[in-house]
Amino acid sequence: MASVTSSRPYHIIIFGATGFTGQFVVEEVARCAAESPGGGSLKWAVAGRSRQRLEEVLKQAAGRLSMPELRTDIEIIVADVSIEESLAIMCQQGLVILNCVGPYRFYGEPVVKACIANGAHYIDICGEPQFLERMQLEYHTKALDRGVYVIGSCGFDSIPADLGILYTQRQFKGTLTAVESFLKISSGSEGMSGHDATWQSAVYGFADSGSLRQLRKKFGHKPLPVVGAKVKKGFMFFSKEIGQYAIPFMGSDPSVVKRTQRFLHEEEQQSPVQYSAYVGVGGLFSVVKLLCGGLLFWFMVKFSLGRKLLTMFPSFFSFGLFTKSGPTMKQIEDTCFSLTFFGEGYSEGTDPTQGQPNAKICTQVIGAGKTATTAFGSLKYTGEAVCVCVFSLKTFLPCHRRKRTVVNDQMNELFQFQGPGFELAESLPYCHSSLVTLIQQSHR
Ligand SMILES: NC(=O)c1ccc[n+]([C@@H]2O[C@H](COP(=O)([O-])OP(=O)(O)OC[C@H]3O[C@@H](n4cnc5c(N)ncnc54)[C@H](OP(=O)(O)O)[C@@H]3O)[C@@H](O)[C@H]2O)c1
Repeated sequence: MASVTSSRPYHIIIFGATGFTGQFVVEEVARCAAESPGGGSLKWAVAGRSRQRLEEVLKQAAGRLSMPELRTDIEIIVADVSIEESLAIMCQQGLVILNCVGPYRFYGEPVVKACIANGAHYIDICGEPQFLERMQLEYHTKALDRGVYVIGSCGFDSIPADLGILYTQRQFKGTLTAVESFLKISSGSEGMSGHDATWQSAVYGFADSGSLRQLRKKFGHKPLPVVGAKVKKGFMFFSKEIGQYAIPFMGSDPSVVKRTQRFLHEEEQQSPVQYSAYVGVGGLFSVVKLLCGGLLFWFMVKFSLGRKLLTMFPSFFSFGLFTKSGPTMKQIEDTCFSLTFFGEGYSEGTDPTQGQPNAKICTQVIGAGKTATTAFGSLKYTGEAVCVCVFSLKTFLPCHRRKRTVVNDQMNELFQFQGPGFELAESLPYCHSSLVTLIQQSHR
């Protein structure tokens, strides 16, 4: 094998490749390596705690992609989160570790630690604010000192929201002051479902929400200034925009977007955007079901027996929305999402400290099939650089809701890495908050 660097044989190691999501990541990396010009020189390996299961994953991917060479050419690294030395050996072999082992609150920290100690860049698909913020608090400086990028939430949580807001800001002619986003997920005839690990992350995240408040106090941040009219947050309401009832989105999007907005305000003196995230829940019947289920959920997460029952019977307590086996391929293929951003602000030449907002914008991030349910967007290898590609993005009805042609934007080059380290793509107009370390580093 041609060496990636003198000491590191792989560009990418997919850790947790046997997991529900990890298997999709394996296929995506295999596909991108095969399809991209020069992709053959992308060196990657799979890692996990069972060699046998990893072999099975490669066999399945080889069959599904008609790429028999995956079974022989892709190397396997055995590493277990509970065995520090195995993580160190894994991290010494790769430039980038794509960490698919979750829930991250239980398994993530040793991997972050091992990456920093052994100089490998770390990327995950975590949607757990508490883990993401705690890693920032405890490891940001260490990562900077070691020149390592620790990049969280590079999945459905929270790339569409974070980059969608930045995109909206960029499209707005003036000062964008507030955005509300509405997530709508549509499924096919077999409906949709989520995987057990995500359900578990939610159960333990809600159970421990008090610690998140404590954690945030430790940052000692000053509140972000409110520019323009202060936006009131809704609890449950009928949204004319999406034609459904909507409730606040409980994932990591608001946390991630806020981190980005704080970074851009403090480091680049940009005007921060107030952000509220909502998800469409359907009609009145769904609302009643959700209220009953939600109350039961809130009650049960407070007790260890309740948590045990919730995690033992995800399908029962989530009305079939989360299952131990996760969505079927048909469900995944038939699922798509739209995240629509309704923004308001002050047109060019208007003072945002005076009067009411006078301009509006609407943008949308859409994703289909696996992008809605899996991770890392999709990867692209150009022979020199690996880029994470995300979703398709369109904007419409800009200022004053006038219809305009749909504009596709190339949200392709999120970041790229070359040789032993990452470099920001030069034209990069975005900075996912999890890329904060990356950006700060590029400024040093
Ligand atoms: N942000 C997003 O949009 C997004 C999307 C999808 C998933 N996720 C998150 O990604 C995480 C994984 O989800 P999933 O559905 O793929 O979960 P999963 O199917 O349960 O996979 C978990 C993976 O972790 C591995 N693992 C568990 N304990 C380990 C240990 N001690 N050492 C090494 N590996 C260990 C498992 O290996 P074994 O096969 O050996 O058990 C498996 O490969 C979850 O936290 C989920 O919330 C986020």
